[in-house]
Amino acid sequence: MPGRLEGKRALITAAGQGIGRATAEAFVAEGAEVFATDLDLALLDGLDCETFALDARDDASVRAGVDRAQPDVLFNCAGFVHHGSVLDATDDDFAFGFDLNVHSMFRTIRAALPGMLERGGGSIVNMSSACSSVIGAPNRFIYGATKAAVIGLTKSVAVDFIKQGIRCNCICPGTVESPSWHDRVKALGEEMGSYDKAMEAFVARQPMGRVATAAEIAALVVYLGSDESAFTTGHPHIIDGGWSGQ
Ligand SMILES: NC(=O)c1ccc[n+]([C@@H]2O[C@H](COP(=O)([O-])OP(=O)(O)OC[C@H]3O[C@@H](n4cnc5c(N)ncnc54)[C@H](O)[C@@H]3O)[C@@H](O)[C@H]2O)c1
Repeated sequence: MPGRLEGKRALITAAGQGIGRATAEAFVAEGAEVFATDLDLALLDGLDCETFALDARDDASVRAGVDRAQPDVLFNCAGFVHHGSVLDATDDDFAFGFDLNVHSMFRTIRAALPGMLERGGGSIVNMSSACSSVIGAPNRFIYGATKAAVIGLTKSVAVDFIKQGIRCNCICPGTVESPSWHDRVKALGEEMGSYDKAMEAFVARQPMGRVATAAEIAALVVYLGSDESAFTTGHPHIIDGGWSGQ
């Protein structure tokens, strides 16, 4: 049985840990030729595919990575969660959030799309979040604004290239277990005076009573990257344990 991504070259940003890493592993298991990249090269150790450093905030780094990978599937996973309301946000934080969470996708898509068009098609999967234009989450002002922008960016790319074999979708996860999520639980725990209470608060947001595993999110990226989703483009795909479905 051929893998669901057999014959496809896939470039993944932020594949060192969390959802990006789980997706690199799932893509390898499904037969893709995977180019797993991260700002921090050391985090890519142990992955069974080609790995190299790529800074999604740096155009030269992105262009070099795309030249090397020549991807049919591009998974834009890099992103950062700022904590706080509009009154906590600084101009620098706001600019950083948009640069890493949104502008990075402009860079990678601009670099990867001409090759995809030349080869007759491609699938782009962008990382948004349930916290976006789907729902507002407390203290996620910069994050929610950036992830809503990802949905608009996704739709725009999808509509412009739909006749040329390019699909562009984004995914909107709820809370997902990852190293940075554990850091956020710790930070909230310090604010609330108890790590356990912070954990309870995060889990309580998910009606299923648990957070997602990174592998559960990777399964959706495999589907969107593969030809199984050939009739699907221009959509945010919500995978949030029922958070926004209530
Ligand atoms: N964890 C969640 O609850 C959750 C929910 C919804 C969406 N997301 C999104 O999923 C993505 C991954 O989050 P995660 O929690 O799985 O992983 P994470 O936040 O634990 O890891 C992020 C990775 O991004 C890398 N990175 C940072 N800056 C980079 C840059 N400039 N270029 C390339 N790589 C860079 C880091 O080195 C790290 O390996 C993010 O876009 C995040 O917003 C996460």
